[in-house]
Parts: sequence; structure tokens; C-alpha cells
Amino acid sequence: MTNNNTYFVANWKMYGNSSSIKHIAKVISISKINKYKKVRIIYCPPYTLLEQFVKKTKKTNISIGAQNCHYEAGYGAFTGFVSTKMIKNSGCKFVIIGHSETRKEGDTDKKINMKIKSALDSKLKVIFCIGESYKDKKNKKTNLVLNNQIKNGLNKIKNLKNVLIAYEPVWSIGTGIIPKISNLNSQVKKIKKFINSKFKNKNVKVLYGGSVSSKNIKSLSRIKEIDGFLIGGASQNQNKFIDIIKKSIN
Ligand code: PGA
Repeated sequence: MTNNNTYFVANWKMYGNSSSIKHIAKVISISKINKYKKVRIIYCPPYTLLEQFVKKTKKTNISIGAQNCHYEAGYGAFTGFVSTKMIKNSGCKFVIIGHSETRKEGDTDKKINMKIKSALDSKLKVIFCIGESYKDKKNKKTNLVLNNQIKNGLNKIKNLKNVLIAYEPVWSIGTGIIPKISNLNSQVKKIKKFINSKFKNKNVKVLYGGSVSSKNIKSLSRIKEIDGFLIGGASQNQNKFIDIIKKSIN
């Protein structure tokens, strides 16, 4: 059951411009209401808007995160990339790593592992995405794929205190299709069990992402094992985002 410590991560992807900041005003107001004070809202706009979002949310309990990073922690000759040190310096607290859309653009498990290490070294919290494709699911390879992504992505990382897992079945992202509620609960349970067996960590938080909307949030928020949501499309409209937050907090 969702409680008021739940994470709501707004992944804006490649959307937003210099006037988008006004579209978070109502969310800022909501976050100040007692009932929602403990709700963990994390906005992840594109790089170009990070500093603007950091400034606007400074005196609130809303955090800002980047959607990706380079694995090189500091500075270097990497045209077009942004390092974890630069993200940290812009005032961000989080970074999304391993999203299926960046995996499609060349993120391998090894690169993801390097990025996670770099982010943790730069004192950022990581939202580490994992998820099986529709083909994996059809071939009954979901557990194998997820376990490999976890094992390789977190290779040689001892402390998972600053790592959140986001389970995002690739076939659910942007499709309007979500897994069956009962399947989702047991899948998240399996992910937690595997992490505990490999990394001796019982407390890792697992978020769900993929077509979360104000229509399905009531049933999703009843899933015991889920600690929050990674929301793409619906997070860009603040009324929908607020509706999702309100409907999942009792
Ligand atoms: P969606 O995206 O909510 O639009 O399906 C989720 C994500 O990609 O993180």
C-alpha cells in the first residue's frame, strides 16, 4: 500500500522549454501541504532546464534529477556529454541511469555500471532502471533478463543506500499497457529478493514505471511491494501529475 513516503519521479524525457517552469507551480504548492510533505517528488527535466528547476524548487522538498550522465566522473574531451560532477554542481540530487531509451541509444550493462559508480562517487542518488522487452516476456526470460541487468549494473557496488531501482517493463513504456496487478506485485517481490540474495540489502526501494496514469494509479498504488512511481508522459501535465499523487496517498 502506498504511504506518504512514496517516490514520484517525473521523467520529462526530451520535452520542455524555457517557459515550462511555470508548469510545476501547482505541484510546488501541493508539496507544501502537510499531508504531502513527506511525499518524495523528483523532477527530471532535460539538462537545459536543470538549473532553472533547481532554483525554483530550492525552498521546497522537491528534488531535481538528470535523465542520464556520462561515466567519466569529472571533466574531459567528451563532446556532447555531461558528467556526474557537472550534474551535482548544478544542484541536482538524482540521476536516472539505464532507462530503456538510453539503452536503445547504446547504454550497455557495463557502461551503466560505470555510470552508476560515477554518480555515487559524485554523491548523487541513482534511479537505476531495469526492464524486460516484450520478446523477453514472451520467451519467459523476464527473470533472467532482470537478474542480469541487476547483477551487471550493480557489479562491485557495495552500498546500495543511494540506489533506487525503477522496474519498467519496456512493453509498458508509453504504450498505455501495464502488467497485471498480481504479476507486478510478485515481480517486484522477486526483484527485491534477488537484490537481497546478491547484495545483502533488504531495504532497497523499487519503483514501478510504464504508462502510469491518473486512471490506473488507484490499482497500482494498492500494490504492497511498490515504493513509488517513475512517470513519463503524465508527469508533464501538472494536473495529471497531482491527480496521480493525490489518488495514491491515503
Ligand atoms: P511513460 O514513461 O509513463 O510515458 O510510459 C515512463 C518512462 O519512460 O520512464
